[in-house]
Amino acid sequence: MPAAKTIRTQVGIVGAGPAGLLLSHLLHLEGIESVVVESQSRPHVEERVRAGVLEQGTADLLNAAGVGERMRREGLLHHGIELRFNRRGHRIDFQELTGRAITVYAQHEVVKDLVQARMAAGGQIFFQAEGVGIEGFQEDAPRIRFRHGGEDCQIACDYIAGCDGSHGICRPSVPAGALRYYEKVYPLGWLGILAEARPASDELIYVNHERGFALLSMRTPQISRLYLQCRPDEDVARWPDERIWEELQRRFETADGFRVNEGPIFQRGITAMRSLVTEPMQCGRLFLAGDAAHIVPPTGAKGLNLAAADVRVLAHALACRFHTGSEDRVSRYSEICLRRVWRAQHFSWWMTSMLHRFEDGSGFDYRRQLAELDLVTTSRAAAAALAENYTGLPFDLPGESL
Ligand code: FAD
Ligand code: PHB
Repeated sequence: MPAAKTIRTQVGIVGAGPAGLLLSHLLHLEGIESVVVESQSRPHVEERVRAGVLEQGTADLLNAAGVGERMRREGLLHHGIELRFNRRGHRIDFQELTGRAITVYAQHEVVKDLVQARMAAGGQIFFQAEGVGIEGFQEDAPRIRFRHGGEDCQIACDYIAGCDGSHGICRPSVPAGALRYYEKVYPLGWLGILAEARPASDELIYVNHERGFALLSMRTPQISRLYLQCRPDEDVARWPDERIWEELQRRFETADGFRVNEGPIFQRGITAMRSLVTEPMQCGRLFLAGDAAHIVPPTGAKGLNLAAADVRVLAHALACRFHTGSEDRVSRYSEICLRRVWRAQHFSWWMTSMLHRFEDGSGFDYRRQLAELDLVTTSRAAAAALAENYTGLPFDLPGESL
């Protein structure tokens, strides 16, 4: 059998999602070599419909890393959101409460910008890699093995970054007992659509309605992104266009006649909701980042932002290791990330519980939710807490400046 082709690099990265690509780019800026191995094709990762909201810190990070030019041009800067309940809207003014904003810019556009930047810098990404596996990360000889274009390949590296999302192979490759999992499964799903329809609002609208949660978001001034709470095991085939629009109109209805703008639906899908945290986020010379390490329900729009925050910490820790030889930062990677991860878990859980209808919920629960929404939309302190969390905690939480 011919020997596998060996590629030597400093950091081997599994996964070309936002976490893996941004890590590779940040390492490049630090003068550190990396190679990315991705199981899907380039068009697949560049078109995959996912998140849409960037915290101010994430947008600042992309700008500082020199990959924010198109985002600044095409992204939509939002200074607030609306919470709608009892058929009335209430605006949370981020600008006034925190001086911060969010950018609506699709995740796959971020991915395109990062792939482009890696290609322009001569970075190596193996798309459509088959049979990806990792080994040796507990014995100081990390390897990523895969087949590419019919050839057996291996990447020999100093460290592996597991950025392969919630269904990847890195987390399950860690020996049983070395990691602890904290998981919560919600009895909820979101039916999400993209439609060629002008968004009916300039800002996102989160609705608590007796028929279930709904969310109005957008991708461009011509494309609406809309979500409806549904069962986690819902069959998308049971949702023809007419039923989707009828349900959206009912949930978004206001006393003064608000209507969602309708148009051809060109993408639809169901996402089941869960929270997961892996502790620690590292094992030997393997570091987990992004969805490979933790999952949040999408209500707080935190998943992509957490992925960016993780790799910022990891890139810095690896730069300290390669430039000074100090292991201090890499050994504390997990501890530093987990504080933010748990804060985001709490916020995502809180938004989810405040805004959705639960099958086992009682009249008491619904009225408690309305009281909470009343508080958040009338108390400046409560509104500011929501706004601070939504626009993003500062990258350096107290006591941990990088
Ligand atoms: P991924 O994007 O999943 O990337 C992992 C990569 O690894 C993929 O390219 C995958 O193909 C690859 N891979 C998997 N297995 C292997 C393997 N064996 N070998 C090689 N490669 C592999 N987050 C927000 O911040 N804001 C939002 O508004 C938001 N909205 C969302 C809405 C929906 C409907 C959903 C589903 C998610 C949303 N999220 C949101 C979450 C966000 O999309 C994820 O948190 C984000 O994609 C995480 O990035 P990642 O790079 O860690 O993982
Ligand atoms: C989106 O635009 O896809 C989106 C926005 C806000 C969320 C989740 C998803 O909370």
